[in-house]
Amino acid sequence: MSKQTDDFFKNIISHAKEYGFVFPSSEIYDGLSAVYDYGQLGSELKNNLKTYWWKSMVQLNENIVGIDAAIFMHPTTWKASGHVDGFNDPMIDNKDSKKRYRADQLIEDKIDRYEKDGKTDKAAQLQKDLDDALNADDLARLKTIIEDHNIVCPISGTKNWTDVRQFNLMFATQMGAMADGAEQVYLRPETAQGIFVNFLNVQKTGRMKIPFGIAQIGKAFRNEVIARQFIMRMREFEQMEMQFFVRPGSELDWYKQWKETRLKWHLALGADPNKYRFHDHVKLAHYANAAVDIEYQFPFGFKEVEGIHSRTDFDLKQHQEFSGKKLQYFDPEINQSYIPYVIETSIGLDRLFLTVLANSLVQEDLSTEERQDSRVVLKFHPAIAPVKAAVLPLTKKDGLPEKAREIMAKLKLDYNIQYDEKDSIGKRYRRQDAIGTPFCITVDHQSLEDNTVTIRHRDSMEQERVNAEDLERIIADRVSLSGLLKQLI
Ligand code: GAP
Repeated sequence: MSKQTDDFFKNIISHAKEYGFVFPSSEIYDGLSAVYDYGQLGSELKNNLKTYWWKSMVQLNENIVGIDAAIFMHPTTWKASGHVDGFNDPMIDNKDSKKRYRADQLIEDKIDRYEKDGKTDKAAQLQKDLDDALNADDLARLKTIIEDHNIVCPISGTKNWTDVRQFNLMFATQMGAMADGAEQVYLRPETAQGIFVNFLNVQKTGRMKIPFGIAQIGKAFRNEVIARQFIMRMREFEQMEMQFFVRPGSELDWYKQWKETRLKWHLALGADPNKYRFHDHVKLAHYANAAVDIEYQFPFGFKEVEGIHSRTDFDLKQHQEFSGKKLQYFDPEINQSYIPYVIETSIGLDRLFLTVLANSLVQEDLSTEERQDSRVVLKFHPAIAPVKAAVLPLTKKDGLPEKAREIMAKLKLDYNIQYDEKDSIGKRYRRQDAIGTPFCITVDHQSLEDNTVTIRHRDSMEQERVNAEDLERIIADRVSLSGLLKQLI
């Protein structure tokens, strides 16, 4: 990361904390690694992002319904899905610092360093060696690579490494009061399995006909060996997943369609299209016949935000085998029963949140010949902004606060609105810019005479005088989700 992008990333993190978007978890106890809390504005933003996703999936598509499955699931679920045996990361410990690392990430960091130093051939060769070792699950080879390239522990600076071992990422806990009789259960590492085990429940009770989808938003947990880059890689995070059940043989057409649909969904939020790209998986998981990531250009490079996977009939087949229950669909159009194939769209809500922050945070120089000036603005799409408008009486007297509160009382029935009468109007505008509020409504003495107010637009900073009666319409035009959703149809 260059110094400039490094600084920008640090700005995002400090801005998120300073304005109540994201706090380190249990910070008064010095925090908990890779766990974060969303503050008063962060939770509003997150809820708006969830609503945007939910409505675009469930409301816009007649053949997609949503569920809310429990985090705990029968432990056999995770045997069937392959997570008990195969959901691992290769880890290595440094014996001097006692620090644990992901072996592949240590090597990736070395590749980055070679690239930065202009050693592109060496970087390419190392990338190939890494891919080969990972594809072959060759842990000894990973260790040899680390030794051959003189990769040292960033803390101790030594090469005193243990062997590379597999580390299962699932968190386990006990269910039941008695230690002896308690059953080991897992905190789900993905929400998808809650959809698969409910496939027949939903299909039957909802009289769903293939093709149809089941969507879900919920927490997932992974004991990431090394967690870094703020809310990019967390141990507790939230996923928004949709499994689309299709007739076998039609899955690659649907895969193509969902790929385009999902990219359009991201771009509708107003980001620069050049910051997004598809990254096709070269090595496919054993159950997939196509897979792609939608990547966003974060300050630390292009990284996955969403995965679209053609998962064949793997999951339903496994659950059918392990549960002994038939998980088939009778297709009246072809008079056949089969296990449907599945296209999955899986997006991390926290990573999406980070893309939105990175896309929106702007430092603007407003200096004139007379004076130096600048502002920090979060240029959120108005439909996802945590606060839609601020109502600001010009002064604290002469009946202006009362008039402002009257306006606020009407608007707050539909929108999250802030009231602020402290400090100069300029300072108040800056505070609202910094949290991304699209409109500031200022109530002045003229408002008492003719019921007009000024409305200031966040991005252009232009102000216009409007009738207070028109405020609801003006705000609704810009902040309603339907404007955003229309772009997807
Ligand atoms: N059901 C498929 C699945 O879980 P994944 O690629 O492992 O696939 C899907 O995860 C998405 O979940 C990722 O694209 C990412 O946005 C998010 N995600 C995964 N691990 C995460 C973590 N540790 N912290 C935050 N988000 C994560």
